[in-house]
Amino acid sequence: MRALTVAPARAGAAEVRDLPDPRPGEGELLVEGLAVGVCGTDREIVSGAYGRPPPGRDRLVLGHESLGRVISAPDGSGFAPGDLVVGVVRRPDPVPCGACARGAFDMCRNGRYTERGIKELDGYGSELWTVETGYAVALDPRLERVGVLMEPTTVVAKAWEQVERIGARSWFEPRRVLVTGAGPIGLLAALLGVQRGLEVHVLDLATGGPKPEAARALGAEYHAADIGEVTGRVDPDIVIEATGASGVVLGAIAGTASYGIVCLTGVSAAGRRIPVDAGAVNREIVLENDVVVGSVNANLRHYAAAADALARADLGWLERLITRRVPLDRHAEALTARPDDIKVVLTLGREA
Ligand code: BGC
Repeated sequence: MRALTVAPARAGAAEVRDLPDPRPGEGELLVEGLAVGVCGTDREIVSGAYGRPPPGRDRLVLGHESLGRVISAPDGSGFAPGDLVVGVVRRPDPVPCGACARGAFDMCRNGRYTERGIKELDGYGSELWTVETGYAVALDPRLERVGVLMEPTTVVAKAWEQVERIGARSWFEPRRVLVTGAGPIGLLAALLGVQRGLEVHVLDLATGGPKPEAARALGAEYHAADIGEVTGRVDPDIVIEATGASGVVLGAIAGTASYGIVCLTGVSAAGRRIPVDAGAVNREIVLENDVVVGSVNANLRHYAAAADALARADLGWLERLITRRVPLDRHAEALTARPDDIKVVLTLGREA
């Protein structure tokens, strides 16, 4: 089978290679890969800045945003050939830490978790893959064209859960959410905000193209303006931050309504310094009982919530988030970001 492989410690080493077909172990599904989504993490791995191959190897199969079709399933597993499935990204650390021992591997405390396509486990960017049934999630068959959006949706399902759990510490009836960034994470976070009946605002730099259109099609208000101006006008109860840009992050923290919750989801590069009035930021957070929370990855509860959110979403709207579908052998094109991209998808086989 063909697979997209990388050498995580070396820049620019992405290559399609022929690898032996995987054989499902006990309790595993054999899956035909349909597509993998490409995100900033994949590009970071290809650039040599992130990721780790499985122990004893120097190459890793890339791809953590999966979509496939079951070829074979163990009897009594609840899966059957033909099912549309995605594979979960993270596995608990082997110790396990208290969080991993309780199924909260997204909150792993010792950093020894593994991740398919990212850290020490081969990913899903291959024509065939296997997955443990306990880490496979079935999708509504109607989602064949868009189910590859599942993994980023799990990330925002977790972010929303964090916001709601933190909000529940006192009276909480949020009305307005500001989502910063109109990439896949931002737009999917906006979708989940709309599904919750909130007034949703989306801020991004783009002044034209698919991003503002997608936000407006959702019924959100789109802003291509300065973060301070937008928070001043919107006075958001919640901010889901999906740019990782320092100025936007700080603007969001400084710009919430009282009892504001800012959930940070963007992984930024270190080393960019900007002047900050730390006293003013502290004062604002304290006097307003604000919370700033970071959120990464997702556990099985978030996969279930994401599958449900996608099943309830408008399929046409989800389709417009996938702005390019690129076949596996043209992976270099997919791995190079273009300004008008929302989600770029690598197709692995028959799926077009
Ligand atoms: C993935 C997460 C993963 C994180 C850190 C993100 O791109 O969506 O599942 O935990 O990278 O490796």
